[in-house]
Amino acid sequence: MKMIPESLERHWMPFTDNREFKREPRLFVRASGMHYFSSTGRRILDASSGLFTTPAGHCRPEIAAAVNEQLQTLDFTPSFMRGHPGAFALADQVAALTPAGLDHIFFCNSGSEAVDTAMKIALAYHLARNEAQRTYFVSRERAYHGVNLGGTALSGMVRNREAFGALLPGVLHLRHTLLPENRLTRGLGAAGAELADDLLRFVNLVGEKRIAAVFVEPIAGSTGVLVPPRGYLERLREICSRFGILLVFDEVICGFGRTGDAFAATSFGVTPDLITMAKALTNGAQPMGAVAVRAEIYRTVVESAPQGAPEFFHGYTYSAHPAACAAALATLEIYRSERLFAKARELSGYFLDAMFALQDLPAVNDVRGFGLLAGLEIKPAAVPGLRGGELQAKLFDRGLHVKTTGDVAIIAPAFIASRADIDLMGSMLRDAIAEY
Ligand SMILES: Cc1ncc(COP(=O)(O)O)c(C=O)c1O
Repeated sequence: MKMIPESLERHWMPFTDNREFKREPRLFVRASGMHYFSSTGRRILDASSGLFTTPAGHCRPEIAAAVNEQLQTLDFTPSFMRGHPGAFALADQVAALTPAGLDHIFFCNSGSEAVDTAMKIALAYHLARNEAQRTYFVSRERAYHGVNLGGTALSGMVRNREAFGALLPGVLHLRHTLLPENRLTRGLGAAGAELADDLLRFVNLVGEKRIAAVFVEPIAGSTGVLVPPRGYLERLREICSRFGILLVFDEVICGFGRTGDAFAATSFGVTPDLITMAKALTNGAQPMGAVAVRAEIYRTVVESAPQGAPEFFHGYTYSAHPAACAAALATLEIYRSERLFAKARELSGYFLDAMFALQDLPAVNDVRGFGLLAGLEIKPAAVPGLRGGELQAKLFDRGLHVKTTGDVAIIAPAFIASRADIDLMGSMLRDAIAEY
């Protein structure tokens, strides 16, 4: 494949300033370990694990070999009424990582699909329990739950909603948890557990048995790393249990070691009823998402349906695609054999030190972080978000890949990062932000 495409015009790029990109393309042509390589031959340190996808580092030969072998052995199996062994093996392995009890796994192809699948599972579960009137969903301001229509309705980010009409009716948003009292707090903030009581207000507003599920990211990632206040998730759990509401943790970013455990649910000691996941499930090497559900939810939906037909009318042509399963199985083997979740936990202190050290820069508004995930919020220019976009371009040109949202840089190194890699991320960020 040519290093520089003849035309950049026809590919309509997602979540991209297409006009700017096509004026000044920043193309990756190769990757290895902690680095990308640009079409201009430059080596770029990856400070965001691609898009939070690649904690084991880029281009792992074990994953490539597994996918290659799978595609030469069994390239595709219809996902409806047919199966292949890899899907069942993977479900077992994912279930072994999720908190006890969340042991049934529904596969899909992305985080967005995982979210919409979880919404449908919640509705199917309540219908099966003769509580079909539970049709409300609760989400949160500043939430990101992907881009399908269900997830867009749950979204708490205005730019992701405003162009898309009325969306789903019956979605209520908890207040977000970004509080000035918790500014520059490392880990969980002391203030704000009571924000979970918004859920009680919704119960009082729409009725005790009207809410199907509450969706939250344990750490809200894409909006700029909002670590939950201490006690907040526990309180949500308690209210959900009291009123028969399903609690869904969207762990598309947090899952697979980012918080130092397999799932943030374990790190925070709060067990939801469902977990959505994607990204690091295959180390980013194949598109794949999944939903883990409590056994009782699976059993209720399956056992209440008449025999002789599918119990749950939902699924994707590419659910549990053989190549994605092969990539995921090889990825989980790397996580295990290289103890990568423990490595993430061990590196976290050093990483957070490096990120919080940047708070002396006049342009830094806030630093937040947990595990190997940190948000660096810089002071906005006249138009909010402009500076964040400019910062990521500037960093790319200096050799650092960073994902920004608005004016927040989201730093999420691969778990194979060395201390020297973290030092370099810190110094490049410092030099670039110091110019504001
Ligand atoms: C919490 C969360 N949910 C859902 C998604 C959507 O995932 P995808 O882009 O794979 O559809 C993302 C993506 O960043 C996410 O962070």
